[in-house]
Amino acid sequence: MTRFSEDALTEAVIARMAACDNARLRLVLAACVRHLHALVQEVKLTEAEWLQAIEFLTATGQKCDERRQEFILLSDTLGVSMMVDAVNHRKPGGETESTVMGPFYVTGAPDLPMGATIAGQTDGGEPTLVSGRVVDGEGQPIEAAVLDVWQTAPNGFYDVQDPSQPEFNLRGRFRTGADGTYSFRTLKPVSYPVPTDGPVGKMLLALGRHPYRPAHLHFIVSAPGFEPVTTHLFVKGDPYLDSDAVFGVKDSLVTDFEHGLASYDFVLKAV
Ligand code: BEZ
Ligand code: FE
Repeated sequence: MTRFSEDALTEAVIARMAACDNARLRLVLAACVRHLHALVQEVKLTEAEWLQAIEFLTATGQKCDERRQEFILLSDTLGVSMMVDAVNHRKPGGETESTVMGPFYVTGAPDLPMGATIAGQTDGGEPTLVSGRVVDGEGQPIEAAVLDVWQTAPNGFYDVQDPSQPEFNLRGRFRTGADGTYSFRTLKPVSYPVPTDGPVGKMLLALGRHPYRPAHLHFIVSAPGFEPVTTHLFVKGDPYLDSDAVFGVKDSLVTDFEHGLASYDFVLKAV
Protein backbone atom coordinates (compact mmCIF):
# COMPACT_ATOMS: atom_id res chain seq x y z
CA MET A 1 0.00 0.00 0.00
CA THR A 2 1.28 3.49 -0.81
CA ARG A 3 2.22 5.29 2.39
CA PHE A 4 0.10 8.37 1.67
CA SER A 5 -2.73 6.75 -0.29
CA GLU A 6 -5.88 8.70 -1.04
CA ASP A 7 -7.52 7.11 2.01
CA ALA A 8 -4.66 7.92 4.38
CA LEU A 9 -3.57 11.33 3.09
CA THR A 10 -6.02 13.58 4.96
CA GLU A 11 -5.27 12.14 8.39
CA ALA A 12 -1.52 12.06 7.59
CA VAL A 13 -1.54 15.82 6.94
CA ILE A 14 -3.52 16.47 10.12
CA ALA A 15 -1.21 14.23 12.17
CA ARG A 16 1.73 16.38 10.99
CA MET A 17 0.24 19.26 13.05
CA ALA A 18 0.44 17.37 16.34
CA ALA A 19 3.49 19.31 17.58
CA CYS A 20 1.72 22.68 17.21
CA ASP A 21 0.90 23.98 20.69
CA ASN A 22 -1.76 26.39 19.48
CA ALA A 23 -4.92 24.29 19.86
CA ARG A 24 -7.15 26.74 18.00
CA LEU A 25 -4.77 26.88 15.02
CA ARG A 26 -4.66 23.06 14.93
CA LEU A 27 -8.47 22.87 15.02
CA VAL A 28 -8.99 25.45 12.25
CA LEU A 29 -6.23 24.11 9.97
CA ALA A 30 -7.32 20.48 10.43
CA ALA A 31 -10.89 21.41 9.45
CA CYS A 32 -9.50 23.37 6.51
CA VAL A 33 -7.50 20.35 5.29
CA ARG A 34 -10.46 17.97 5.75
CA HIS A 35 -12.84 20.24 3.82
CA LEU A 36 -10.34 20.95 1.02
CA HIS A 37 -9.51 17.27 0.56
CA ALA A 38 -13.20 16.36 0.61
CA LEU A 39 -13.90 19.03 -2.01
CA VAL A 40 -11.18 17.64 -4.32
CA GLN A 41 -12.61 14.14 -3.93
CA GLU A 42 -16.26 15.18 -4.27
CA VAL A 43 -15.79 16.95 -7.61
CA LYS A 44 -12.75 14.85 -8.69
CA LEU A 45 -10.87 18.08 -9.35
CA THR A 46 -8.80 17.94 -12.54
CA GLU A 47 -5.20 19.17 -12.64
CA ALA A 48 -6.24 21.97 -15.03
CA GLU A 49 -8.95 23.09 -12.58
CA TRP A 50 -6.45 22.99 -9.71
CA LEU A 51 -4.08 25.23 -11.69
CA GLN A 52 -6.95 27.56 -12.61
CA ALA A 53 -7.82 27.90 -8.91
CA ILE A 54 -4.17 28.70 -8.07
CA GLU A 55 -4.08 31.34 -10.84
CA PHE A 56 -7.39 32.83 -9.67
CA LEU A 57 -6.17 33.16 -6.07
CA THR A 58 -2.85 34.60 -7.27
CA ALA A 59 -4.69 37.23 -9.35
CA THR A 60 -6.92 37.99 -6.35
CA GLY A 61 -3.86 38.72 -4.21
CA GLN A 62 -2.24 40.78 -6.96
CA LYS A 63 -5.37 42.98 -7.19
CA CYS A 64 -5.04 43.98 -3.52
CA ASP A 65 -3.39 47.21 -2.39
CA GLU A 66 -3.98 49.74 0.39
CA ARG A 67 -7.25 50.90 -1.25
CA ARG A 68 -8.51 47.62 -2.64
CA GLN A 69 -9.12 44.32 -0.83
CA GLU A 70 -10.09 41.73 -3.44
CA PHE A 71 -9.94 38.82 -0.94
CA ILE A 72 -12.61 40.48 1.22
CA LEU A 73 -14.69 40.98 -1.92
CA LEU A 74 -14.25 37.27 -2.71
CA SER A 75 -15.30 36.34 0.83
CA ASP A 76 -18.29 38.71 0.59
CA THR A 77 -19.52 37.44 -2.78
CA LEU A 78 -19.22 33.79 -1.70
CA GLY A 79 -21.29 34.48 1.44
CA VAL A 80 -18.34 33.69 3.74
CA SER A 81 -18.37 37.14 5.37
CA MET A 82 -22.06 36.86 6.21
CA MET A 83 -21.56 33.32 7.58
CA VAL A 84 -18.83 34.68 9.87
CA ASP A 85 -21.24 37.45 10.87
CA ALA A 86 -24.03 34.92 11.52
CA VAL A 87 -22.02 32.66 13.82
CA ASN A 88 -20.55 35.60 15.78
CA HIS A 89 -23.67 37.73 16.24
CA ARG A 90 -26.53 35.53 17.32
CA LYS A 91 -28.75 38.14 18.97
CA PRO A 92 -31.94 36.64 20.31
CA GLY A 93 -32.58 39.75 22.46
CA GLY A 94 -33.86 42.11 19.75
CA GLU A 95 -30.66 44.14 19.44
CA THR A 96 -29.92 45.77 16.06
CA GLU A 97 -28.60 43.13 13.69
CA SER A 98 -25.20 43.40 12.06
CA THR A 99 -24.13 43.01 8.46
CA VAL A 100 -20.97 43.25 6.35
CA MET A 101 -18.60 46.16 6.83
CA GLY A 102 -17.46 46.12 3.21
CA PRO A 103 -14.10 47.39 1.99
CA PHE A 104 -14.88 51.13 1.90
CA TYR A 105 -14.84 52.10 5.58
CA VAL A 106 -12.14 54.62 6.45
CA THR A 107 -11.20 55.85 9.90
CA GLY A 108 -10.94 59.55 10.66
CA ALA A 109 -14.27 60.80 9.29
CA PRO A 110 -15.11 64.28 10.67
CA ASP A 111 -17.03 64.66 13.94
CA LEU A 112 -20.17 66.62 13.04
CA PRO A 113 -22.92 68.28 15.10
CA MET A 114 -26.35 66.66 15.15
CA GLY A 115 -28.43 67.68 12.15
CA ALA A 116 -25.39 68.40 9.95
CA THR A 117 -25.12 67.15 6.39
CA ILE A 118 -22.57 64.58 5.23
CA ALA A 119 -23.33 65.35 1.56
CA GLY A 120 -21.41 68.64 1.20
CA GLN A 121 -21.75 69.96 -2.35
CA THR A 122 -22.51 66.53 -3.88
CA ASP A 123 -24.56 66.85 -7.09
CA GLY A 124 -27.92 65.16 -7.55
CA GLY A 125 -29.71 62.76 -5.25
CA GLU A 126 -32.71 63.19 -3.02
CA PRO A 127 -31.99 65.13 0.20
CA THR A 128 -32.92 62.97 3.19
CA LEU A 129 -33.02 63.51 6.94
CA VAL A 130 -32.04 60.36 8.86
CA SER A 131 -32.98 60.32 12.53
CA GLY A 132 -33.81 58.13 15.51
CA ARG A 133 -32.46 57.02 18.86
CA VAL A 134 -29.73 54.78 20.22
CA VAL A 135 -31.16 52.73 23.10
CA ASP A 136 -30.31 49.74 25.30
CA GLY A 137 -32.26 46.48 25.53
CA GLU A 138 -34.79 48.13 27.90
CA GLY A 139 -35.40 51.02 25.51
CA GLN A 140 -33.43 53.47 27.68
CA PRO A 141 -31.48 56.16 25.77
CA ILE A 142 -27.71 55.71 25.47
CA GLU A 143 -25.70 58.89 25.95
CA ALA A 144 -22.39 59.44 24.10
CA ALA A 145 -23.08 56.75 21.51
CA VAL A 146 -21.06 57.37 18.34
CA LEU A 147 -22.61 56.77 14.92
CA ASP A 148 -19.94 56.49 12.24
CA VAL A 149 -21.78 56.68 8.88
CA TRP A 150 -20.71 56.35 5.24
CA GLN A 151 -22.33 55.86 1.85
CA THR A 152 -21.83 56.33 -1.90
CA ALA A 153 -22.63 59.44 -3.88
CA PRO A 154 -25.57 59.31 -6.32
CA ASN A 155 -23.07 58.11 -8.99
CA GLY A 156 -22.65 54.86 -7.01
CA PHE A 157 -19.04 55.52 -5.95
CA TYR A 158 -17.53 56.02 -2.52
CA ASP A 159 -15.18 59.01 -2.15
CA VAL A 160 -12.19 56.62 -2.04
CA GLN A 161 -13.15 55.25 -5.48
CA ASP A 162 -13.84 58.58 -7.12
CA PRO A 163 -11.23 61.36 -7.45
CA SER A 164 -14.00 63.89 -8.25
CA GLN A 165 -15.27 63.69 -4.64
CA PRO A 166 -13.56 65.49 -1.76
CA GLU A 167 -11.93 63.40 0.98
CA PHE A 168 -14.51 62.17 3.53
CA ASN A 169 -17.43 63.03 1.26
CA LEU A 170 -20.59 61.34 2.56
CA ARG A 171 -18.90 60.30 5.79
CA GLY A 172 -19.34 61.60 9.32
CA ARG A 173 -19.41 60.79 13.01
CA PHE A 174 -22.26 61.88 15.28
CA ARG A 175 -22.44 61.62 19.08
CA THR A 176 -25.73 61.30 20.99
CA GLY A 177 -26.63 63.50 23.95
CA ALA A 178 -28.46 62.42 27.11
CA ASP A 179 -31.71 61.72 25.23
CA GLY A 180 -29.98 59.19 22.89
CA THR A 181 -31.33 60.88 19.76
CA TYR A 182 -29.40 61.40 16.53
CA SER A 183 -30.10 63.10 13.22
CA PHE A 184 -28.15 64.01 10.11
CA ARG A 185 -28.76 65.01 6.52
CA THR A 186 -27.64 63.05 3.52
CA LEU A 187 -28.79 61.93 0.06
CA LYS A 188 -31.07 58.94 -0.43
CA PRO A 189 -28.68 55.98 -1.04
CA VAL A 190 -28.64 54.31 -4.46
CA SER A 191 -27.93 50.71 -5.48
CA TYR A 192 -24.46 50.25 -6.97
CA PRO A 193 -22.22 47.45 -8.29
CA VAL A 194 -19.33 46.03 -6.26
CA PRO A 195 -16.03 46.50 -8.14
CA THR A 196 -16.00 44.21 -11.22
CA ASP A 197 -12.61 45.08 -12.75
CA GLY A 198 -10.79 42.24 -10.97
CA PRO A 199 -10.91 38.44 -10.70
CA VAL A 200 -14.04 38.53 -8.51
CA GLY A 201 -15.86 40.46 -11.26
CA LYS A 202 -14.81 37.76 -13.76
CA MET A 203 -16.07 35.10 -11.37
CA LEU A 204 -19.48 36.81 -11.03
CA LEU A 205 -19.75 37.06 -14.81
CA ALA A 206 -18.80 33.38 -15.27
CA LEU A 207 -21.45 32.42 -12.71
CA GLY A 208 -24.16 34.49 -14.40
CA ARG A 209 -24.45 36.72 -11.30
CA HIS A 210 -25.07 40.48 -11.24
CA PRO A 211 -22.72 42.60 -9.08
CA TYR A 212 -25.31 44.94 -7.50
CA ARG A 213 -25.87 45.81 -3.86
CA PRO A 214 -29.25 47.22 -2.84
CA ALA A 215 -29.17 50.89 -1.77
CA HIS A 216 -27.89 51.25 1.79
CA LEU A 217 -26.33 53.54 4.35
CA HIS A 218 -23.46 52.11 6.47
CA PHE A 219 -23.21 52.55 10.25
CA ILE A 220 -20.87 51.54 13.02
CA VAL A 221 -22.71 52.39 16.25
CA SER A 222 -20.69 52.19 19.46
CA ALA A 223 -20.98 53.33 23.07
CA PRO A 224 -19.04 52.71 26.29
CA GLY A 225 -20.35 49.55 27.99
CA PHE A 226 -22.05 48.18 24.85
CA GLU A 227 -21.07 45.87 21.99
CA PRO A 228 -20.50 47.96 18.83
CA VAL A 229 -22.64 47.05 15.84
CA THR A 230 -21.53 47.28 12.21
CA THR A 231 -24.62 47.47 10.09
CA HIS A 232 -26.59 49.11 7.25
CA LEU A 233 -30.00 50.65 6.74
CA PHE A 234 -31.35 49.32 3.44
CA VAL A 235 -33.83 51.32 1.35
CA LYS A 236 -37.23 49.63 1.30
CA GLY A 237 -38.43 48.80 -2.21
CA ASP A 238 -34.96 48.48 -3.74
CA PRO A 239 -35.02 45.95 -6.59
CA TYR A 240 -31.84 44.20 -5.35
CA LEU A 241 -32.96 43.45 -1.78
CA ASP A 242 -33.51 39.77 -2.65
CA SER A 243 -30.32 39.36 -4.70
CA ASP A 244 -27.65 41.42 -2.88
CA ALA A 245 -24.28 40.46 -4.42
CA VAL A 246 -22.85 39.99 -0.90
CA PHE A 247 -25.92 38.44 0.84
CA GLY A 248 -25.98 41.22 3.47
CA VAL A 249 -29.71 42.01 3.69
CA LYS A 250 -31.61 41.30 6.91
CA ASP A 251 -35.32 42.14 7.10
CA SER A 252 -34.93 44.12 10.34
CA LEU A 253 -32.59 46.58 8.56
CA VAL A 254 -34.93 47.45 5.67
CA THR A 255 -36.19 50.99 6.27
CA ASP A 256 -38.55 53.49 4.61
CA PHE A 257 -36.69 56.31 2.85
CA GLU A 258 -39.76 58.19 1.64
CA HIS A 259 -40.53 61.92 1.30
CA GLY A 260 -36.98 62.82 2.35
CA LEU A 261 -37.16 61.06 5.72
CA ALA A 262 -35.73 57.89 7.21
CA SER A 263 -36.10 56.90 10.84
CA TYR A 264 -34.45 54.04 12.77
CA ASP A 265 -33.73 53.24 16.41
CA PHE A 266 -30.50 51.33 17.11
CA VAL A 267 -30.62 48.88 20.02
CA LEU A 268 -27.21 48.00 21.51
CA LYS A 269 -26.34 44.98 23.63
CA ALA A 270 -24.63 45.62 26.98
CA VAL A 271 -21.22 43.93 27.32
C1 BEZ B 1 -20.20 47.91 0.59
O1 BEZ B 1 -21.37 47.90 0.93
O2 BEZ B 1 -19.58 48.95 0.69
C2 BEZ B 1 -19.59 46.65 0.07
C3 BEZ B 1 -19.74 45.48 0.76
C4 BEZ B 1 -19.16 44.32 0.28
C5 BEZ B 1 -18.45 44.34 -0.91
C6 BEZ B 1 -18.31 45.54 -1.63
C7 BEZ B 1 -18.89 46.70 -1.13
FE1 FE C 1 -21.78 49.96 0.69
